[in-house]
Amino acid sequence: MGALRSSVTKTFGILTAGGDCPGLNAAIRGVCRAAHDRYGMQIVGIAEGFRGLIEENVRIFKPVDFSGILTRGGTILGASREKPFKASLSGDLDGDIVGDKVQSIKDNYKKLGLDCLVVLGGNGTNTTGYRLAGEGLNVIGLPKTIDNDIVGTDRTFGFHSALSIGTEAIDRLHSTAQSHSRVIVIELMGHKAGWLALYAGVAGGGDVILIPEIPYDIKAIGHHLEDRAKSGKTFSIVVVAEGALSQAEAKMEKHERKKYRAENGPSVAYRIASEIQEETGMETRATVLGYMQRGGIPSASDRVLATSLGTAAADLLAKGKYGRMVALVGNDIDSVELSVPEGKVKTVPKDHYMIDTAIAVGTCLGSD
Ligand code: F6P
Repeated sequence: MGALRSSVTKTFGILTAGGDCPGLNAAIRGVCRAAHDRYGMQIVGIAEGFRGLIEENVRIFKPVDFSGILTRGGTILGASREKPFKASLSGDLDGDIVGDKVQSIKDNYKKLGLDCLVVLGGNGTNTTGYRLAGEGLNVIGLPKTIDNDIVGTDRTFGFHSALSIGTEAIDRLHSTAQSHSRVIVIELMGHKAGWLALYAGVAGGGDVILIPEIPYDIKAIGHHLEDRAKSGKTFSIVVVAEGALSQAEAKMEKHERKKYRAENGPSVAYRIASEIQEETGMETRATVLGYMQRGGIPSASDRVLATSLGTAAADLLAKGKYGRMVALVGNDIDSVELSVPEGKVKTVPKDHYMIDTAIAVGTCLGSD
């Protein structure tokens, strides 16, 4: 280890918030190793996302704490979906409780002697980070999520691992669908974006891929499946993003759609499976992959991305370049302003090359 380099940041806190994903520990290790070994920074590990900072559930991080964690799934810090700026349902809706939480974060940030808060999270976490920056805290964000839906980065860590798991599941469904001459619908996560379903669907050779960005018409799906049957293909795999919606749903107001979805089954896969069976008469089954996609060891690609983003975050800390999110931009690691507009997610653009790729290999995307 060479001589320590100079650093504007002396002490920082680190937390992981929102849903977990493979690669979080690799990113924690990347940030902490570079920050500690290169710049001699002090690190405060914050448990369970923003909740840990509200409740001062923290511990001083020593090198042993961030050693041996590169390949581990989940997050050694724990995570929660605590949103300090959002009024809790059980709490005081006039804003007092919200104010208390933000004030606790500010007080503890000061009490712990933090120069910066490093937040590893998705859109919600980065938005909270941005709002905390507006409250006077120094914040740096890292983009994690299996959904790949963060504006400003070309890829998030967690996505590649979930893609591999989703692809393997589709591969495995092929043999059982073939044995029983069935249609099998598999639902993948992705929140309001179709990245995971589109990429896993193409990688696994899905015959139909339904994503939220392209509302589906059950008749178009039915025709496609019937054409396959006529050409001698006795089974089909339908890959569905959890946010997929019909053309009728797409026309609904938000609250009406929410109500409709709540009343129509535990998940979209079951609903679409019964719609297919009704439309075509083909025997259809549904599978929801669920949290399998977020568990377990990160892929090599996610380890590399998470490590690179982590060490880049340490460089920003050292330079005192706060209010930024590290990002993959093209083939380079860079950073963008931490200014995630609330509710804005990166969805699949209609002209994305993967849409044309899927169509070119004969995949039905749910509309004619
Ligand atoms: O954002 C990651 C994600 O796994 C989404 O794909 C999914 O919609 C959501 O989290 C599930 O959230 P929770 O962990 O709160 O059930």
